[in-house]
Amino acid sequence: MNLKENISLKQYNTFGIDVLASYFATFSNTAELATLLSDFSTQQLPKLVLGGGSNILFTRNFDGLVLKNEIQGIEVIEEDASGWLVKAGAGINWHSFVTWCIDKGYAGIENLSLIPGNVGASPIQNIGAYGVEQKDSFHQLEAVDILSGEKLLFNKEECDFGYRDSIFKRIFKGKLIITSVTFALKRIPDFNTTYGAIDQELKKMGVTSLSIKSISEAVCNIRRSKLPNPAVIGNAGSFFKNPEVSNSVFNALKISFPGIVGYELASGNFKLAAGWLIEQCGWKGKRVGNTGSHKDQALVLINYGNASGTEIWDLAMSIQASVKDKFDVLIEPEVNIM
Ligand code: EPU
Repeated sequence: MNLKENISLKQYNTFGIDVLASYFATFSNTAELATLLSDFSTQQLPKLVLGGGSNILFTRNFDGLVLKNEIQGIEVIEEDASGWLVKAGAGINWHSFVTWCIDKGYAGIENLSLIPGNVGASPIQNIGAYGVEQKDSFHQLEAVDILSGEKLLFNKEECDFGYRDSIFKRIFKGKLIITSVTFALKRIPDFNTTYGAIDQELKKMGVTSLSIKSISEAVCNIRRSKLPNPAVIGNAGSFFKNPEVSNSVFNALKISFPGIVGYELASGNFKLAAGWLIEQCGWKGKRVGNTGSHKDQALVLINYGNASGTEIWDLAMSIQASVKDKFDVLIEPEVNIM
């Protein structure tokens, strides 16, 4: 068992926060994971599973065992007239998986290009971008119960996906390790280009015949133009979720703030653009010590280098308080706080 002690997690979280894990181990398959979970010396330790570390803010050292999921492997497990069921190891980088699918002509996740993180984390917060969510292509996942070591299978219904949400953020939080995710990908794409600037970007690129590859390129261009690359500047994407308010609250806000950005949901409620709310409070591009809100997308908090997790958390709480104060709307973190 390859167990290390007192390891810095700086290179394992995209915020680049320098905290220590008392113990650290990687696993590349379920047998290695089973050994780690059943070993007497580690059984009693609190455990934290890390994938790409792209949705976590560490505010303190982790006094336990960090398990870094490195399970690889992509396998087509079924094929029919409509498409393919593709099983992917949870430790695969998400964008590498998207690229693999695009190269094969497997459609469904092209709008989710360039989202940081690993395959295993994608169902936990039901990653989404440009009008598509991972749940739209999700088929099933395999997981291991940390306490019992039992292997479990979850179908789509059992995951109870919502906006940046699933059962893995609720009753199963911290209890399971996802080992593989199977996606149902299509032969005939449902092109989804109406969200945001995709159509505009495709035009700019001179695309005349739409393909999943061109959509992926358009999404990558848009993301690169306004989201900071975590390899260059520490961040975890959107720090907060876009808050949902009732129709009447939205209409009242619209009277006081005519420029407010909101999208109507099927339920009649409205989803507000948290980036807009934060920008209106004057935070966009503002630097506070080693941290700040990004100049092109206020919803993204960044580590200018050497920020501590608490510094970022304090900034987040100040932003949350000023949005509450100005709009009486609560914006809640999307990232996991440790
Ligand atoms: N806006 C502003 N100021 C800002 C940022 C946004 O006014 O600084 C307004 C603009 O009107 C813009 C609207 O908000 O049109 C929406 O902005 P954007 O298209 O950037 O999307 P978002 O709602 O801020 C969500 C996801 C992103 C995802 C994009 C594109 C959440 C919390 N975030 O952001 O996901 O890439 O849509 O689909 O839902 C992530 O989860 O980490 C993430 C980056």
